[in-house]
Amino acid sequence: MDEGVMKTYGRADEVFVGGHGAVLQDSTGREFLDFLAGIAVSALGHGHAELAAALRDQVGKVVHLSNLFRHPYTEQVATRLCALTDMSAAFFTNSGTEAMECALKLARRAMHNRGEGERTSFVALEQGFHGRSLGALSLTWNEKYRKPFQPLQHVTWVAPEDTATLARVLRSEKPAALIIEPVQGEGGIRVLSAPFLRAARELCTETGTLLVHDEIQSGCGRTGRFLAAQHAGVIPDVVTLAKPIAAGLPMGACLASKAFADTFHKGEHGSTFAGGPLVCRAALVFLDEVERGLLGQVQERGAQLRSGLEQLQRDFPIVREVRGLGLMLGLRLHHSADLVQKALHHNGLLVNCTAGDVLRIVPPYVVTGPQVETALQLLRATLATFPATAPTEQKNEKKEKP
Ligand SMILES: Cc1ncc(COP(=O)(O)O)c(C=O)c1O
Repeated sequence: MDEGVMKTYGRADEVFVGGHGAVLQDSTGREFLDFLAGIAVSALGHGHAELAAALRDQVGKVVHLSNLFRHPYTEQVATRLCALTDMSAAFFTNSGTEAMECALKLARRAMHNRGEGERTSFVALEQGFHGRSLGALSLTWNEKYRKPFQPLQHVTWVAPEDTATLARVLRSEKPAALIIEPVQGEGGIRVLSAPFLRAARELCTETGTLLVHDEIQSGCGRTGRFLAAQHAGVIPDVVTLAKPIAAGLPMGACLASKAFADTFHKGEHGSTFAGGPLVCRAALVFLDEVERGLLGQVQERGAQLRSGLEQLQRDFPIVREVRGLGLMLGLRLHHSADLVQKALHHNGLLVNCTAGDVLRIVPPYVVTGPQVETALQLLRATLATFPATAPTEQKNEKKEKP
């Protein structure tokens, strides 16, 4: 199956060949409910008619130009993203990792511009995940990802919610930037509290540290607001986006606030492909849907799914906690979620497993009420086949603060 491809992924056996909305169809014709959405990407689901028409049209006009030429769609997407996020300028990328690289370079450049070039270090949060390139990997907390690639950029990690330590570290280290995921996706769908996000904002302002919010997973409406940090009323200096931004086409963005919009000088950062007419056309279809009220649907379906998951928590001792916001939800179990995820897959519901013991549930924004009910029924039927505890695995269970 994986012939000729590097063995970096554990892939499932099915070959998915089509889909509609939150449903995926494999090569045998079997349908699955897709509550993973290509890892929190396919916001408009599969087989979206308007997206297909726009892409067909664009392919017949111009697909690629490079950034040596202007294109109206690139500028329209930039302007609309900035309006939705209180930012002033965008740098487009092809992925989340690249958006993080842009943010790191921008922070370093901003320090040089201020005459504080000695401020080169970064502070990030424990359980954070920011990508796989050497810069983004340096910020990623899980040692499993970093260890084989040492040495990496020095990063100081602070535990989420530990405001006192964060204050001490920012005041003493004077880093270039603090990097935060307002909802930690790979870290187990942990929602950072509004008081912590606000305190981080205040501390960054006080110490002249750039506040970078990585909203690659939590942004673009997944939590019911365009940015997760908007629930807390916090505006960072820089925000990174990717995943659903172009409804499944590879695109990311690093957005900077007014004070940092002109940080880079000409030629200091670039990308051959990024922000081209094809991906921007897709992004415009997504942003049109957002404008038409898609995030209201995220809020409604999110509330429905959450209350169903909370009922499952009451009914099944194996369920430890329901986490998340909007349609970025996690069901934390009392033991590894791996076997439960496989059983759900077998039963026709696609989700994945994050942080070992959490089922990550991130359906397309266009998921319907009846599909949410079906997913809850599949979860109920599957959880019923599992014991409340798995004694062999429980011995190794992580000691994690609730
Ligand atoms: C919060 C966060 N940051 C960065 C990344 C890296 O994005 P990409 O895989 O598009 O490079 C991810 C990917 O899962 C992510 O969830």
